[in-house]
Amino acid sequence: MKVAVTGGAGFIGSHLTDALTSEGHDVTVVDNLSRGKIEYVNKKAKFVKKDIRNELSTDLENFDAVFHLAADPDVRSSAIKPAVSYDINVAGTFSVLESCRKADAKRIIFTSTSTVYGNASVLPTPEDYPCTPISNYGASKLACEAYLSSYAHSYGMKSTSLRLANIYGERSNHGVMVDFYNKLKANPEELEILGDGKQDKSYLHVSDCVSAILTAWKKQNPVYDAFNVGSKDKMTVDNLAKSLCKELGKSPEFQYTNTKSGWVGDVPLMLLDIKKLEKLGWKPQVSMQDGLRRYLDWLKKSAK
Ligand SMILES: NC(=O)c1ccc[n+]([C@@H]2O[C@H](COP(=O)([O-])OP(=O)(O)OC[C@H]3O[C@@H](n4cnc5c(N)ncnc54)[C@H](O)[C@@H]3O)[C@@H](O)[C@H]2O)c1
Repeated sequence: MKVAVTGGAGFIGSHLTDALTSEGHDVTVVDNLSRGKIEYVNKKAKFVKKDIRNELSTDLENFDAVFHLAADPDVRSSAIKPAVSYDINVAGTFSVLESCRKADAKRIIFTSTSTVYGNASVLPTPEDYPCTPISNYGASKLACEAYLSSYAHSYGMKSTSLRLANIYGERSNHGVMVDFYNKLKANPEELEILGDGKQDKSYLHVSDCVSAILTAWKKQNPVYDAFNVGSKDKMTVDNLAKSLCKELGKSPEFQYTNTKSGWVGDVPLMLLDIKKLEKLGWKPQVSMQDGLRRYLDWLKKSAK
């Protein structure tokens, strides 16, 4: 099939592109390289260096599916620069949808986020739990979900929102694990932990995230649907720091900023109910221990 991946030079998008090309699809990557790297783009894919806020309809003409991942994925900076995350995420997604409508694309798959739920009181949180985001990033993704639904119902393009938990793994340059890794590299004696260390969240290896995206693409029935994508267990930030230090053979003193949340917009407790996607045949395969080991191996090699 002829498919496009926006953000295909980034962390998740480049792994998705690898999987799609290995399945034999004809893949076009659209990325402005603001955060991604050209060397991550699969050599079998066609690369279009463009900003998603520009007209893409000729680039997406006659595509069977568009995987829309390009975004500003940073929760923290969305509090500091709200207009930037609005512009890239909301205006950018609207622009991609408009281009898809003009290009008559039939299928759109969008990476949303667990942060759309805000501080949910039900854990694991199912998809029908009310969405009350507490970060500008979460709000921007929820606005996109609304457009995904309205475009699906108005213009006959089947669409999907995938609410991702914390995704980690090779090629990721953001998130708590790389933050700890970099801090320990700079000073192995001390580790600053944002928050009180009791934040308790779900993490999923990128290979499981990619298989979730492919499952939803191939198996979803309704014209629009939303699915949670996460693991069945969660881990406190303290335990994550301990596991990471153990793997690296370091024993630093932990220093806490001692707030309940690590930063403005941080959701301290997060676990997604993943039964809906499991019913379509998807199941996470990589344990946290194996995934963390693979990621740390990659971080060590890529720092050389
Ligand atoms: N990594 C996670 O834990 C996580 C969790 C929930 C949701 N998500 C979502 O998954 C998607 C991928 O995230 P990621 O972690 O791979 O991020 P990433 O930053 O590695 O990838 C994003 C890609 O989008 C590109 N991009 C950014 N703005 C663009 C623009 N205006 N025009 C064209 N390209 C642009 C960047 O260059 C980059 O290659 C994002 O939509 C993100 O919001 C990620």
